[in-house]
Amino acid sequence: MLELNAALTGSADYLFCRIDEAVADYRAAHPLARLISLGIGDITQPLAPVAAAALRTAAAEMASPAGVRGYGPAGGYPFLQTALAHQYEGLSCPVLPDEITVTAGSKDALGGLFALFSPAVPVWVCDPVYPAYRDCALAAGHRVHTLPCRAENGFLPCPEEITEPGLIVLCTPNNPTGAVMTRAELQRWVDRALAGGSLLLVDTAYAAFVTDNSLPRSIYAVPEAHRCAIELGSFSKSDGFTGLRCGWVVVPEACGCAGAWRRWLGSHSNGISYPVQRAAEAALSPTGLRQRGRALGVYRRNAERMLDFFTRRSVPCTGGENAPYLWVRCPDGGDSWGWFRRLLEECGVICAPGAGFGAMGEGWLRFTAFGKNAATAEALRRMDRLF
Ligand code: MLT
Repeated sequence: MLELNAALTGSADYLFCRIDEAVADYRAAHPLARLISLGIGDITQPLAPVAAAALRTAAAEMASPAGVRGYGPAGGYPFLQTALAHQYEGLSCPVLPDEITVTAGSKDALGGLFALFSPAVPVWVCDPVYPAYRDCALAAGHRVHTLPCRAENGFLPCPEEITEPGLIVLCTPNNPTGAVMTRAELQRWVDRALAGGSLLLVDTAYAAFVTDNSLPRSIYAVPEAHRCAIELGSFSKSDGFTGLRCGWVVVPEACGCAGAWRRWLGSHSNGISYPVQRAAEAALSPTGLRQRGRALGVYRRNAERMLDFFTRRSVPCTGGENAPYLWVRCPDGGDSWGWFRRLLEECGVICAPGAGFGAMGEGWLRFTAFGKNAATAEALRRMDRLF
């Protein structure tokens, strides 16, 4: 047997696979259990009608002799790059269409972004962290350093803790804690990156959940960020695309790695399917943005209801405002996998144990607001006894 990549064999399985496995075992033993998932952040609301119509039209187009299409451009069709650039213009964060690459989603783009840099370049991730950042960086051969995000710091990392230049991965609104960075906080990161020669990789997959207009929805709200920041975006959560797969990456020319990114893309991607890109374009249209509001409203109601539930019980928690995740202290402050199992067995509720997001996550649980309203309300009723 050839030697396998130690980053894949030497660590526990991906968090959400471990959760699926634990739930599958429980279901096998309790086939009649009515479980409610507040675990993985997967959408429950349908696609916007205008996006679904665009999918159908594009599929019909491809089925006609005049509309048949083969490989698309690796970076994405210009119509979607332009629609995305228009969105950035609306945020007063101008980005050129050419700097935008359409991807299958953030996770799929991460491996490519880490591959652009020598394994000698370290990667800095938060702790707790969305585990895909850490796993993809390790699989690409990088050393990974962690930036502790503590309650006393609003669960935000500190730029002063960067002791060696590298790739710094940030996520705002944050998965898993729901913490959101202000413009001043992002500015500190840009200043740090420019001063030390680091590059920021900023995941804004949850930007659509920001309702407070004083909070930035893109790193490019900070002047000079084009020189030191790559941004990832996604249609997954805002537009119900977790099953369709579409996102984007902005790699500004001024970052110095746009050529390497094009080189990587040329040999690793044949682009995202035409119907999916047409659906994404429709999701960004004025009608699409209006229709997206319905699903976001459902998720926001869940977040408010959960926040109210924990706050009334004086359970320490954060997130849920401008973010679809709540980060909640385990009732006795202890073992998060133990609490995951208790909630599963005693309430039929699936959450995500904080320890799966890093050592600093121990003692915490993550709840997602992506459920249906009635199911989320029922989950809270069931958990009443334990919190
Ligand atoms: C999450 O629940 O953190 C994400 O939705 C899972 C993922 O995107 O892999």
